Amino acid sequence: MRVLGIETSCDETAAAVIEGDGDKLKLLSNVVASSADLHRQYGGVVPEIAARSHIEAINPVIKQAMEQAKCGWEDIDTIAVTKGPGLGGSLLVGVLAARTLAILHKKPLYGVNHVLAHTYASFITDSSGSYELAPQPPEFPLLTLTVSGGHTLLAYFKDHFNYTLLGSTTDDAVGEAYDKTAKILGLPYPGGPSVEKLAVGGNPDKYSLPKAKTRNKYDFSYSGLKTAVLRLAQAEIGENYDFPSYKLPERLSDSQKADIAACFNRTAIGILVDKTKKAFEEYAPKSLVISGGVSASPELRRQARTALPIVPIFADPRLCTDNGAMIAAAGYFTARSKITSDNPKDLDIIPGLSL
Ligand code: KG4
Ligand code: ZN
Repeated sequence: MRVLGIETSCDETAAAVIEGDGDKLKLLSNVVASSADLHRQYGGVVPEIAARSHIEAINPVIKQAMEQAKCGWEDIDTIAVTKGPGLGGSLLVGVLAARTLAILHKKPLYGVNHVLAHTYASFITDSSGSYELAPQPPEFPLLTLTVSGGHTLLAYFKDHFNYTLLGSTTDDAVGEAYDKTAKILGLPYPGGPSVEKLAVGGNPDKYSLPKAKTRNKYDFSYSGLKTAVLRLAQAEIGENYDFPSYKLPERLSDSQKADIAACFNRTAIGILVDKTKKAFEEYAPKSLVISGGVSASPELRRQARTALPIVPIFADPRLCTDNGAMIAAAGYFTARSKITSDNPKDLDIIPGLSL
């Protein structure tokens, strides 16, 4: 079964073709066009700009994904598209494109949950490109940690689509905390990679930053850590809490910035690894999948491999941030599990969709 996956939930316009055979998935193509450069000057995603960029990019990106996979429409069995969660205007572009193609080429259509789909990137075990992939798909029962710009969550899967949410974001997601810390330090959007890069030259033991306690032990709270970074930066230059954050980057020295980045990085990732370890010990799953944009982080990979009693499964870094391959992979397993396909005439976006 060949599945075309389409993703437009935030600032990446992406499409990919996956070939599925039983439990094995092969990536035939993966095309991502990002509008991140256009958002950089604003320090975060501007929804109107993202939606307009999707309109311009969607047709060429799908065309390129089909060409790279050497597929005509007769070779595609199913279309999968992100229906939520995400930005309304952005989601609409992908869903309308997918609905049109499904009607035009008479293909079944599946609307996919983006957060769930991040996990499915790790089910891809083969590719026609140079991807770093696990040789075998994850086994059930499966523990998943999903860490992205909008979500931080732990879930326990007994089987495909049969899961219990153990804990989730109570305020800021971990990726959001990276993006806000980057802003405080005057680093470009997206914050994750830029904070990581600066952290390499800093001393992670220089300051002690708080790890929030949550009522549910598997929930995540990152707003306190973000505020602690702000207060630390203000204190480092001898100012108090009302000093404006946009003036901080010009007053902090390079070494102060690197030390703050290193301490934030170590603490933010430490929280994820501590909670995942606890959940692993309680639920004893057969596999652990760590997915989402923040799972591209070398610090997360290092801490997880050192501290966890199981070898965690990470997708290739290019499949950690938003992409069409994860949507196609989730679509493949949805189609295989005999869930009824969506009506291409009325599949709607769900911007607030939860897991
Ligand atoms: O999954 P994703 O691409 O989009 C959402 O679904 O939100 O995640 C984006 C988030 C951003 O907050 C970005 O700063 C973070 O992932 N990120 C990273 C890294 N690469 C992206 N965080 C830490 N280290 C990275 N290398
Ligand atoms: Zn995502």
